[in-house]
Amino acid sequence: MNAKTILVTGGAGYIGSHACVELLQDGFKVVVVDNLSNSKIESLNRVQQITGKKPSFYQTDIRDKQALADIFAKESPTTVIHFAGLKAVGESCDKPQLYYNNNVYGTLVLTDVMMHANVKQLVFSSSATVYGESSCPQYTENFPLGAINPYGRSKAMIEDILRDLSAADRNNQSKYPWKIALLRYFNPIGAHESGLIGEDPNGIPNNLMPYVAQVAIGKLKQLSIFGNDYPTPDGTGIRDYIHVVDLVKGHINAIAALNSESYKCGGCNAYNLGTGKGYSVLEIIDAFQKVTGKPINYKIAPRRSGDLAECFANPELALKELNWKVEKDLHDMVTDTWNWQTKNPQGYI
Ligand code: NAD
Ligand code: UD1
Repeated sequence: MNAKTILVTGGAGYIGSHACVELLQDGFKVVVVDNLSNSKIESLNRVQQITGKKPSFYQTDIRDKQALADIFAKESPTTVIHFAGLKAVGESCDKPQLYYNNNVYGTLVLTDVMMHANVKQLVFSSSATVYGESSCPQYTENFPLGAINPYGRSKAMIEDILRDLSAADRNNQSKYPWKIALLRYFNPIGAHESGLIGEDPNGIPNNLMPYVAQVAIGKLKQLSIFGNDYPTPDGTGIRDYIHVVDLVKGHINAIAALNSESYKCGGCNAYNLGTGKGYSVLEIIDAFQKVTGKPINYKIAPRRSGDLAECFANPELALKELNWKVEKDLHDMVTDTWNWQTKNPQGYI
């Protein structure tokens, strides 16, 4: 039984709610801080339904420094998993200040409060979107960074800030140095196998999997495939889709690593969380049709600006240093997405 308290920012969201389930099932005490700007409190009721345990919940913006400091004083967390952030690429191009304020300034406030509370263990939700375009489609952590939109740049800036915090401790030979894991997610999809929690996008989804699921259930009429003239075997874009439950298990392993001998002297390292295998848009549609028995109506549309032809992870470092690898395959991802979609056709209501 592990009595440690983990503070989860953004814990009511898609990935955060799945993390709460895994943490509670592993015996951690969980404190969620979320302003509910892109989520509903119902997700945490469902977490309780799955686990039989209730996370503490504060409806608080991470930029509210005093409120956050009070939560740290009251709850005494040992580690923070930082999911809170805005994540829509298109919106970030329209409203860059909103994204830099929420994501970057929010992280500055959070790390400031953590330092004052002497809590210097952090797992951060980064993204494969921080990488620059590469001639090799399999991305390794030491590839050059080069995000191409404000959302991606907000993640890259946060990574820089966190690396600098860690470097400052190293230079000062701090007795209690920052221990930070930057987890670069590839394409999280799927849902908890219970079908009680899942992705509940606002409005029309931007990402492929929720879009396909809403076409299958009849909420949307037709999927537009963004380009079929890429240099890939079937011409459509290839991505590394990862089951959200595998993804959140990577966070639990990261906490264990930060507590291990290898982080005794502190440090800040990036890890890819992906499967290492890519699937094309047409392969995803095919898998979805097979699992659901429903035809997916689609048309070929122009390429979406900013899209790469192919992108998948080299997940070897996470295996070596976090002792983590995925357990679920595409069939599980599609089955669990469909189970969530059919049980919650309107999302959380
Ligand atoms: P989500 O929108 O479902 O969850 C984010 C949560 O953070 C929401 O509940 C939202 O209300 C909360 N939040 C946002 N700003 C906040 C603030 N200032 N104060 C308090 N709470 C705030 O998104 P998600 O898919 O669960 O993503 C979680 C994290 O992972 C995000 O940081 C995202 O950028 C990152 N990420 C997501 C993906 C993906 O495809 N889902 C891929 C790579 C990285
Ligand atoms: C997108 C974001 C990326 C973010 C990631 C989170 C963009 C440009 N990039 O990446 O920053 O980290 O989501 O998971 O938005 N597709 C269609 N039709 C659709 C939707 C998508 O054909 O309606 C295609 C895309 O062209 C791509 C693939 O499906 O080839 C996956 O798209 P998506 O789910 O949006 O993920 P990413 O493009 O990898």
